Amino acid sequence: MIVTIVGAGNMARGIGTRALAGGHSVRLHDRTRAKAEELATALSQAAPEADVTAVGPDAVGDSDIVVLALPHPAGHEVAAAWADALAGKTVVDISNPVDFTTFDSLTVPPGTSAAEQIAAAVPESRVVKAFNTTFAGPLTEGQVAGRPLDVFIAGDDDTAKQTVSALVSSAGLRPLDVGPLRRARELEAFQFLHMASQERLGLNWSSAIAILP
Ligand SMILES: NC(=O)c1ccc[n+]([C@@H]2O[C@H](COP(=O)([O-])OP(=O)(O)OC[C@H]3O[C@@H](n4cnc5c(N)ncnc54)[C@H](OP(=O)(O)O)[C@@H]3O)[C@@H](O)[C@H]2O)c1
Repeated sequence: MIVTIVGAGNMARGIGTRALAGGHSVRLHDRTRAKAEELATALSQAAPEADVTAVGPDAVGDSDIVVLALPHPAGHEVAAAWADALAGKTVVDISNPVDFTTFDSLTVPPGTSAAEQIAAAVPESRVVKAFNTTFAGPLTEGQVAGRPLDVFIAGDDDTAKQTVSALVSSAGLRPLDVGPLRRARELEAFQFLHMASQERLGLNWSSAIAILP
């Protein structure tokens, strides 16, 4: 698959690392081209056989999956601006719309989610929520305490969820389809709790949320 990641920060590194481990081609786009090129170089040095390049915004057309690795609401803004190019595409929202000024609430109102807001902005795309509960460090490693990370997946389009699940599985992680896109409300709240508990529980951003049988 061709996986295009928009944004070249911590999560782009984690998802890019895992996608390359799964044998996929990775395209990196950032509003600062040099930042995408820097990450592409770093990822290719870590995996010399990998197919990873920095691209302009026009590269979206070739993608099987477009990951919005941007903060909220930038992901929403970029999706809305690119709605035509994203039509028909599987678009992955990984965001956690946390109010970082207070660290005490989400910034989306009750009864919706960042993922649903993005879906409304790109009605011709197949929006999937995934990777929002996996911290960047453990994601880059692929595991916590020897256990592959669980990746919770929510969406209204089964084919799109299967495509994302295939990416997750090939990357050595465990996909868990938790239902329709409105489950993103719970996934975003779930990860808010996870984030807000880091200091209290001494987890140092290296923990993971998992479902154990
Ligand atoms: N970090 C985690 O462990 C983690 C875990 C799960 C989910 N997430 C979610 O993943 C997303 C990305 O997080 P991150 O940790 O990768 O953040 P990050 O390291 O700060 O990277 C964010 C990227 O988004 C770009 N960006 C910021 N504002 C933008 C805008 N208005 N328009 C276009 N690009 C913009 C940044 O570019 P510039 O450098 O030019 O600003 C940067 O490339 C967030 O929604 C976060 O909630 C993060």
